[in-house]
Amino acid sequence: MQVDLAALIRALTAAVVIRCLFGLDPGGRGDELARSEAGLLQALSSPLTLALPLPLPGTPYRRALTLSAALERQLQALLAAKRAQSPGTDVLANLLAARDETGAALGDEELIGECNGLFVAGHDTTAQTLVWTIFLLTQHPEHQAELLAEFTTVLAGAPPRPDELPRLQHLDRALRESMRLLPATPMLFIRVCAGEATLGPHTLPRGARVVLSPFITHRDPALFPEPDRFEPARWQRITPSPWQYLPFGAGPRMCLGAAFAEQALRIMLPMILQRFRITIPAGATISRTVHGIALAPKYGLPAVLAPQDGRPVAPATIRGDIHQLVHLHGRAAPV
Ligand code: HEM
Repeated sequence: MQVDLAALIRALTAAVVIRCLFGLDPGGRGDELARSEAGLLQALSSPLTLALPLPLPGTPYRRALTLSAALERQLQALLAAKRAQSPGTDVLANLLAARDETGAALGDEELIGECNGLFVAGHDTTAQTLVWTIFLLTQHPEHQAELLAEFTTVLAGAPPRPDELPRLQHLDRALRESMRLLPATPMLFIRVCAGEATLGPHTLPRGARVVLSPFITHRDPALFPEPDRFEPARWQRITPSPWQYLPFGAGPRMCLGAAFAEQALRIMLPMILQRFRITIPAGATISRTVHGIALAPKYGLPAVLAPQDGRPVAPATIRGDIHQLVHLHGRAAPV
């Protein structure tokens, strides 16, 4: 069966994020909320919305405003329902119970803002990390075989429990390497110099805006030899500093959801690979784009899913500009 694996994984991570953030199970209100959040994100990241921010009928900006108002109503209803029920363990339940040093709770506007911010920050980034990792593993069957063997030894074919994750060393290295090579967030939030600063040979005046790019830093051959190769074993030899390897950013504004995402990825990836033997059809075009803030495969990830039988997957001939980013063992047919 051929599917767009990128779309399926986006739906999966949306369901996981909605469950953990809002305590809603897939189906019903959880799916509605995921659809509304994803629809608004898409409308807001359309170049036309940004180029023409006029609330005139028929404009994409007006559509974004309409979607935003509908989402706000859904979140208001969710807040009311959660206040009426016994407290849960999800993030929103914790935010509702939180009090600052004066004993004040967050207001509805703040809660709705947090809900949107966390969904947007956590959903597509996690999805694209999973998508790129699966793509890289399909093209490097030797590393996929290592993972499957590790899942058999450590997990005995069952889904991973959190206490087993530290023993999944091949998984850890494959994810680190995938987030180095194709980081879901190619650029961090812009920094503004609070005072004059020196950066290498440059003097930056107060107020200068600085863009940091994990994508570029992760390709510095002085830090990561042969940087365009997917080589999980390199993580047995290197221990870069937090500013040299920064898929989740670094410093005080580092990703708030890094620990959550790391754990979610280490649970989802084994569960997918234990269940499915994934092959990319020969001639598939894999090119890059940026969805909102996330580096994503422009045309999705076409894949054939079959029950996992442990047989090695033959890497396909891939077309597209992915070859500018990753060395695919010379099996490629760049376009
Ligand atoms: C693989 C998945 C993820 C990646 C690659 C990722 C990456 C990032 C990056 C690069 C930043 C900017 C850090 C900086 O500028 O130094 C960031 C910020 C943030 N992320 Fe994530 N993220 C992921 C998942 C999540 C999840 C699951 C959540 C929440 C549920 C989340 C919540 C946030 C928040 C709230 C911020 C803003 C932090 C601040 O400005 O203080 N992220 N993330």
